[in-house]
Amino acid sequence: MVGTPVAEDKFSFGLWTVGWRANDPFGEPTRAALDPVETVHRLAELGAWGVTFHDDDLIPFGSDDSERARRISRFRAALDETGLVVPMATTNLFTHPVFKDGALTSNDRDIRRFALRKVMRNMDLAAELGATTYVLWGGREGSETDAAKTVSAALDRYREGIDTLARYVLDQGYDLRLALEPKPNEPRGDILLPTIGHALAFISTLEHHELVGVNPEVGHEQMAGLNFVHGIGQALWQGKLFHIDLNGQHGPRYDQDLVFGHGDVLSAFFLVDLLEHGGYDGPRHFDFKPPRTEDAEGVWDSAAACMRSYLLLRERARSFRADPRVIEALEQSRVPELSRPTLLDGESPADLLADRAAFEDFDAEAAARRGYGYARLSQLAFDHLLGEA
Ligand code: GCO
Ligand code: MN
Ligand code: MN
Repeated sequence: MVGTPVAEDKFSFGLWTVGWRANDPFGEPTRAALDPVETVHRLAELGAWGVTFHDDDLIPFGSDDSERARRISRFRAALDETGLVVPMATTNLFTHPVFKDGALTSNDRDIRRFALRKVMRNMDLAAELGATTYVLWGGREGSETDAAKTVSAALDRYREGIDTLARYVLDQGYDLRLALEPKPNEPRGDILLPTIGHALAFISTLEHHELVGVNPEVGHEQMAGLNFVHGIGQALWQGKLFHIDLNGQHGPRYDQDLVFGHGDVLSAFFLVDLLEHGGYDGPRHFDFKPPRTEDAEGVWDSAAACMRSYLLLRERARSFRADPRVIEALEQSRVPELSRPTLLDGESPADLLADRAAFEDFDAEAAARRGYGYARLSQLAFDHLLGEA
């Protein structure tokens, strides 16, 4: 039996997720706009812990200062009434036509400067509201033709932009870390920093690399045909999993943003197992879109479904880990042995050369005959996932 979500589960939602009006490239919106204040109340009733936003989700682009202040104070009051927190905030650098060729990597320098200012302004608000993560999703940073973008120059500007923002965080003394969100394409034909791997490599070149990590999204890696669990495994291994966007996706196609778990469910099971047992204690943030077919109530059903899917998978992952047959099967598959270093403590390459058992006397044929038992192990996971164990 899974319970209902509680604050300790750290479930959070973006204002833009439940607030999506379901306009797509072929059709008009099917739902009315949501008031962020209502969203805060509804999310709190459902048991969510946090709410996140793009600057423009809260304060429409071009609002004057008094309108801005009015909107922030209404939002703040709703947070105070409900106890919902703001763990993360981000910037809309993709909707306004000014960003049609990108923001931090637009060929147009004035636009790059404007984009930096737009981010800094919302960082001030993020810090004020207590956020500790600032996400940067570069949806428009890219091109449709390779003639248009000198990738090395674009990456220079991307690095300059992120370094400037990290420097701003330090100068202001904000308790904020930056998280880059990779995506291979959509809305641009090709987006820079398309995968977790590209982003991690880029981060290693930054001046303040310690302040910058990743915010990977399930569907984005799967759009690129990649194994999301492996990507998260590496991000954790590098100490760079600062935040995560949970949703569902059916393989390489447009960005579906399905309810969490409603895509590759086996991968979702192993993902939750990894998050729960692999040392991640950050927000479980849902970046999904309520299906276009849903009315106002269906929106909240789909938000509740994201959290319920997570809790169900967490319960299944716990039962998998606790099953003595699984512990034995893991042993049989020599899974724990991979944590044992290949060399002995202090062993040198010369020592390895001197070890006849490692090579001269090693029976490769006999070792090759040993099965790994992964079929049984994998089916045990499947049984637990389907509640048959
Ligand atoms: C997408 C992205 C966005 C970002 C968001 C945060 O594919 O649309 O995932 O939803 O997560 O803009 O910056
Ligand atoms: Mn997405
Ligand atoms: Mn996302």
